[in-house]
Amino acid sequence: MAPQDGLDTEPDPLFDSVELTGGDPIFERRELVTIDHLPTEDRIVGRDDQIKMIANEIGPAVSGAPPNSVMIYGKTGSGKSLVAKHVMKRSEQEAERRENDLAVAYANCSQAKGNADALQQLGQQINPSESSISFPERGISENEYFNRVWDVLDEFYDAAIFTLDEIDRLKNDDLLMILSRAGETGSVETPIGVIAISNKINYRDQMSERTKSSFGHNEYIFDPYDATQLREILDNRKDAFKDGKLGDAVIPRAAALGAKEHGDARKAMRLLRYAGDYAKNNGAEMVKEDHLLEVRASAEAERLRDLVSGLPSHTRHVLSGLAALTRQNNDQEWFRTTQIIDAYERVCEKEGTDSLTKDRIRQLLKELAFLEVTENRSNHGGKGTGSYKEHRLMWDAETVSRMHTRQ
Ligand SMILES: Nc1ncnc2c1ncn2[C@@H]1O[C@H](COP(=O)(O)OP(=O)(O)O)[C@@H](O)[C@H]1O
Ligand SMILES: [Mg+2]
Repeated sequence: MAPQDGLDTEPDPLFDSVELTGGDPIFERRELVTIDHLPTEDRIVGRDDQIKMIANEIGPAVSGAPPNSVMIYGKTGSGKSLVAKHVMKRSEQEAERRENDLAVAYANCSQAKGNADALQQLGQQINPSESSISFPERGISENEYFNRVWDVLDEFYDAAIFTLDEIDRLKNDDLLMILSRAGETGSVETPIGVIAISNKINYRDQMSERTKSSFGHNEYIFDPYDATQLREILDNRKDAFKDGKLGDAVIPRAAALGAKEHGDARKAMRLLRYAGDYAKNNGAEMVKEDHLLEVRASAEAERLRDLVSGLPSHTRHVLSGLAALTRQNNDQEWFRTTQIIDAYERVCEKEGTDSLTKDRIRQLLKELAFLEVTENRSNHGGKGTGSYKEHRLMWDAETVSRMHTRQ
């Protein structure tokens, strides 16, 4: 046998953070602190009432009877997606126990390219392997996606629950309206319940009267968490870490940071995970409170990325123009629409793309304010100047610019 080269040499410090066993020195079950992980019921804090109320509305579907649709509003990190997924999962299990065929599907509209894309995702999820119907990613019209979803439902299911998450990110409420009114309009026999989720409470104003009426009074507002609840949420995920690897002060501090602005479990969870990653990548003995401070900036950047990801390129160019203005003018943070349009046009020039009309830019600025990336105010100038709008970036300009160059 040939001698095994290299085993006697010094360890390469490049791989110091990789344990000999290939295991993780800090995390036992890192997935527990990822945002998309669906925690077991015993880990969910303070949402019992909401879970019950939503189950009451959507519940008849587990017996194949017509469910009611519900709308959930709340700021980021208030547990909306979690509660919706939890109720869907339990509905699915209960329907199975009752021997009913329940279709459940989930689409996050902030990641969908539009109505057709979101529909395609829903169709794909409920389409059984034995089905002869297909949901290609492109090449068929929105209408045809609807027809195929109706066909699958009528052929294979007794009832359906569809969750449309971050619905405020779609351009219009057509999808919401058609799905929630499908029974009434006779498009499909199978009863459908929709759980629609919006980060914006004023999304209501963008809904057509018909859509509003199909949600009736089934609207729930999820309040932000307080620091104590955030702490309990994180405490319940402690076993993500190996024994003795998580400093005592880390969770209380992450909860306190998450409670700033509004009580945001997503932010708190992210900070905790990033601190763990930081400890691991820097070969620390254990996760310490200081590590939270090291990762704060990247956690913020991640939060901003959530907000701007999926925005059309020109919206990002407007944002980039405003960020550039903010960075060039140290002592100023409010800028007039006309200044922003100029800055935007410079970005377009650099990017080698034609700029949109001024009216369109005004509209994009409204959308950015709606997403709470920027805010605006009206200025009623003195005699002869007329009134004008000013805008301010609500995020660190450096972070915004960096993001733009990365995308
Ligand atoms: N009440 C809760 N109990 C336990 N974990 C929660 C709770 N609320 C939120 N979380 C966790 O915090 C993160 C963000 O929650 P999420 O449901 O995505 O918020 P939203 O959809 O409102 O932005 C997820 O990892 C989720 O599991
Ligand atoms: Mg969500």
